[in-house]
Amino acid sequence: MENESVGSRLTPRSGVAKAFATIGVAAVVGLIIFGGYFYHAPIFTPGKFAPKQPFTYSHKLHAGDLGINCQYCHIYARKAEFAGVPPFSKCMNCHQNLTIDKPSIKEIQKAYDAQNMGNWIRVYNLPDHVWFNHKRHIAKEIECKKCHGAVETMEINAQNQIFRMGFCLDCHQERKVSTDCWTCHT
Ligand code: HEC
Ligand code: HEC
Ligand code: HEC
Ligand code: HEC
Ligand code: HEC
Repeated sequence: MENESVGSRLTPRSGVAKAFATIGVAAVVGLIIFGGYFYHAPIFTPGKFAPKQPFTYSHKLHAGDLGINCQYCHIYARKAEFAGVPPFSKCMNCHQNLTIDKPSIKEIQKAYDAQNMGNWIRVYNLPDHVWFNHKRHIAKEIECKKCHGAVETMEINAQNQIFRMGFCLDCHQERKVSTDCWTCHT
């Protein structure tokens, strides 16, 4: 009798246990899938988001070893809100005569001839509700490095940090710049 009642109590319990087990498995599977996604997503991994770009280009070689000035290519940084990524014509200033037999350069030549814009993948991207302006910061002689890290050492451009609100606010407080919400939020 007692065994029976235990048995009948066990059944619904194991049903609950099964439900928990199912939820548990689903959670683990979910974690693996979404964890994997977020691991590669820019917002969760400072210094890790380094997308494979459609063309070969090394900041280490050009800005580091060759010492080409950042603003030779990112010409809008001191003039506008955005810094701008150079068109292939800029690359061709040097590469129409230089290392032209390398496959990586041939690809760039081909894209240039086809007036392809390159479609480089963005490394940094603020949420839409935040407004940022390069010109204002460059005018105050804040170095690229302060926000983008040592780009001239990067073979492939990688995000060196996440632009958290605190990062912006710390410097604004220090430099006695406005920290009113609407300074950065539109
Ligand atoms: C001021 C001149 C200059 C400009 C501008 C320039 N490069 Fe270069 N690039 C060089 C030099 C010098 C080399 C090294 C050549 C060598 O080692 O034989 C090089 C090498 C390369 C290589 C070959 C790397 C390798 O070893 O396989 C690629 C790819 C490349 N550049 C892409 C670009 C792209 C893309 C741009 C434009 C965004 C660009 N370069 C702009 C000077 C320049
Ligand atoms: C010869 C041209 C050239 C020079 C010099 C150069 N860059 Fe770039 N930069 C590029 C190209 C092309 C890209 C797009 C491909 C990539 O992200 O690697 C880029 C991308 C970037 C990005 C990522 C933008 C984004 O969000 O996608 C940053 C940040 C950057 N450069 C900073 C710098 C800094 C800082 C320097 C100087 C230390 C510098 N660059 C020098 C050509 C150049
Ligand atoms: C005070 C911080 C700060 C400084 C200094 C700074 N940047 Fe940026 N940069 C940013 C932020 C924030 C973004 C993302 C903007 C967005 O998503 O709207 C960005 C984006 C970029 C981009 C990609 C989008 C674009 O604007 O074209 C490039 C390229 C870039 N920066 C290059 C540079 C270079 C080169 C310098 C130095 C001459 C520099 N930045 C200095 C904060 C900075
Ligand atoms: C290293 C210091 C520093 C960092 C980091 C910094 N700022 Fe600034 N910011 C300044 C300074 C200095 C000014 C004032 C420029 C001026 O007076 O023209 C400024 C001005 C601004 C302005 C214009 C303010 C106005 O009154 O119109 C905006 C918008 C802004 N910053 C947004 C940002 C955002 C967003 C970030 C983070 C992604 C950021 N800043 C990070 C130093 C910084
Ligand atoms: C100097 C620039 C700056 C100022 C001033 C500023 N913010 Fe932000 N804020 C940011 C940036 C950059 C982000 C994006 C952070 C991220 O994506 O993690 C952000 C994100 C946010 C978010 C979204 C939640 C989050 O953490 O991502 C809220 C809400 C917010 N800010 C509220 C405010 C309020 C309220 C004020 C005024 C007290 C303010 N902010 C002032 C730069 C600023």
